[in-house]
Amino acid sequence: MNDMTTTAVADFVQDPANPRNPHLPRFCGRGNIRAHVPADLVRDSGLITSPEFLVEPHDYMAAMHTKLPPIFYSPSDYGNSWTLIKHEDCLKVLRNANDFRNLDIAPFPRPDDDYFFFIPPEIDPPHHRKYRNIVDPLFCPAGIKTLEGKIRQRAIDLIEGFVADGACEFTTAFGRPLPVAVFLDIMGLPQDMMGTFVGWCDTMIHSSDPAEVGKAFGSAIAYLKVAIAEKQANPDGGVVSLIANAEIDGRKLSEKEVFGFVCFLWIGGLDTVYATLNNIWVWLARHPERVQEIIDRPDDIDDIVEELLRRYSVTFSGRVVARDIELRGVQMKQGDRVLCCLPAANFDPEVFPNPLEVDFDRPRKTILAFTVGVHSCMGGHLARMELKIALQEWLKRIPRFSIKPGHEIKYKPGGVVGPAAVPLVW
Ligand code: HEM
Repeated sequence: MNDMTTTAVADFVQDPANPRNPHLPRFCGRGNIRAHVPADLVRDSGLITSPEFLVEPHDYMAAMHTKLPPIFYSPSDYGNSWTLIKHEDCLKVLRNANDFRNLDIAPFPRPDDDYFFFIPPEIDPPHHRKYRNIVDPLFCPAGIKTLEGKIRQRAIDLIEGFVADGACEFTTAFGRPLPVAVFLDIMGLPQDMMGTFVGWCDTMIHSSDPAEVGKAFGSAIAYLKVAIAEKQANPDGGVVSLIANAEIDGRKLSEKEVFGFVCFLWIGGLDTVYATLNNIWVWLARHPERVQEIIDRPDDIDDIVEELLRRYSVTFSGRVVARDIELRGVQMKQGDRVLCCLPAANFDPEVFPNPLEVDFDRPRKTILAFTVGVHSCMGGHLARMELKIALQEWLKRIPRFSIKPGHEIKYKPGGVVGPAAVPLVW
């Protein structure tokens, strides 16, 4: 691969209202390793799909600190990237939006003649903030607080529906319906689409078949376009309506902006909370003594949620290098891709000693479950609230439970890390 093909990332002028494909090259696989990459830093990360990773992904990501250099270059059929596992390095990259940009970071290809950016994650400053301002009043702590009663009632109704059975498949009974129902309420989308949405999103995030991903993405696009048109004709209090009728800089958002924004929220909000709940409930089921500790410390629930988010963070942050830069002695060139392995950073033993241990009394440090910097997760406060309510209401009604005897927990490959099924008994 000729390095001269690399687009000048820093020179690309982003116009989100009239998006065009930046056509940044993706260097894929061992045959396309760029000339400046030292051979001794080329390693397989094994992340996401390798059988070793899928045995126990979080243990695997903690062990990366003893098995791999702090920064290494990982070839992959989906795109080669520098992989960062140190907490300090991830903070540096994620807080430097000038040199590490978000252009073209979403893994979902879009046609040139109907290109759109995923908003806000693919929008760099200065435009980025304008979009966040539209929805921040709803997603800020005060906005999320107003939803607490409704989220709690949804959690209670779900649990009351199966508590007498003495068993459930956590994913389908609670882990998935709770955050997805809350999300649909917030977005103003119909609850009866839950199963269909979850199916499309699951395929997009976890399928390794590009044809399947394209089909699911196509169905989602078609549905969301109709939903947006309806909200433009008949506005309501939901987020889709808010975005569909929003203005920035004194003009209405373009069709492409509205769609790219709604579409990303839809992807970002459906899979993540549920994967986090699934991971945490496996841990709870295996540690009854720690369940009792949570029950005994009701006033510490916020710290408990924070530590569980550190221990079970589920996703990654990708960036593209905008100008040549050195990090920890490693030379990165513009156009290189960088993957911050957030769960590994949350297991950095220099920052979180004995990192696999769940310790609710750890000194407060920045955790990276939701990333940091301008692109930190917009749904972070919502997710924290959902986790807190889920723990409180579940443990009140089902304080003792375990994994169904004989069931082996299996993890799904994909950019959001969590088990496929969690059958429980009590
Ligand atoms: C436990 C649950 C969640 C986790 C672990 C999580 C994680 C993340 C992470 C790591 C990022 C940054 C990605 C990057 O750096 O490129 C992010 C961004 C984002 N998340 Fe979440 N997320 C969660 C829940 C949610 C929910 C419930 C929503 C929406 C309802 C949401 C909406 C977003 C949006 C819109 C962004 C892009 C922010 C921006 O670029 O400015 N997330 N999330």
